Amino acid sequence: MSQFAARIPRHVAIIMDGNGRWARARGLPRPAGHRAAMKVVRNVVQECSRRGVGYLTLFAFSSENWQRPREEVGLIMGLFLDALEREVADLHENRVRLRFIGARETLAAQLDQRMAAAEALTAGNDGLTLLVAVSYGGRWDIVRAARRLAQETAAGRLDPADIDESRLGEQLALAGVPDPDLMIRTGGEQRISNFLLWNLAYSELFFCDVLWPAFEVEHLQSAFDQFAARERRFGKTSAQVQAGGDA
Ligand code: IPE
Ligand code: IPE
Ligand code: MG
Repeated sequence: MSQFAARIPRHVAIIMDGNGRWARARGLPRPAGHRAAMKVVRNVVQECSRRGVGYLTLFAFSSENWQRPREEVGLIMGLFLDALEREVADLHENRVRLRFIGARETLAAQLDQRMAAAEALTAGNDGLTLLVAVSYGGRWDIVRAARRLAQETAAGRLDPADIDESRLGEQLALAGVPDPDLMIRTGGEQRISNFLLWNLAYSELFFCDVLWPAFEVEHLQSAFDQFAARERRFGKTSAQVQAGGDA
């Protein structure tokens, strides 16, 4: 293998897609796919922890997913509630720090409270940081950041001339978190679907045909192998990168 063989992404972001199709292929209703997804989440979290990934961001429910039939939305929200009840103790034991990103005010109060409790419980942990995106949209995130900067400006605390990429980044949901190095999408579609629009600017993208409930450690391994073999140039030439970045 190349000189990059041991390179592990510091931040992995995943669009967990294909639950409905997985269920349908088995003659089951869509909810069965959402239920089966949970086991895969558990495995992927465990595997990323074990490999020393620092941050894992999972896209669980998008701003646009509210447009699905009421029953499906209700079922998914119920599964989040159950998962929080069942999984948090284990995550805490495994030193995982849990955080939720997204429009929290759109969620049921009970879910929001459980999320806040899980965040508070695990805030001091030093293992994997697991960020779960619920009611999240990349455009929502950028608009909210712009509004916050506008408020600072209107209050006379911020000079518009001082607004730069880092100031805007500080107002985003992933403030303080390094950008994803690797973004994986399962389910065969090759699109971003309004995930982390700002933060994915230079992520390596890995699209995988496997439906999320069928995603296994071997598929994660393929993504990591591909990542390790890629040359990330960030606009520079290959010669510059090989000379150590500043040549
Ligand atoms: C991803 O699976 C889960 C959510 C978006 C909540 P889907 O439910 O989108 O499954 P497909 O894409 O219809 O198969
Ligand atoms: C993206 O999946 C959102 C999540 C996985 C949470 P969708 O199934 O909603 O994406 P589109 O609508 O097919 O692009
Ligand atoms: Mg889908």
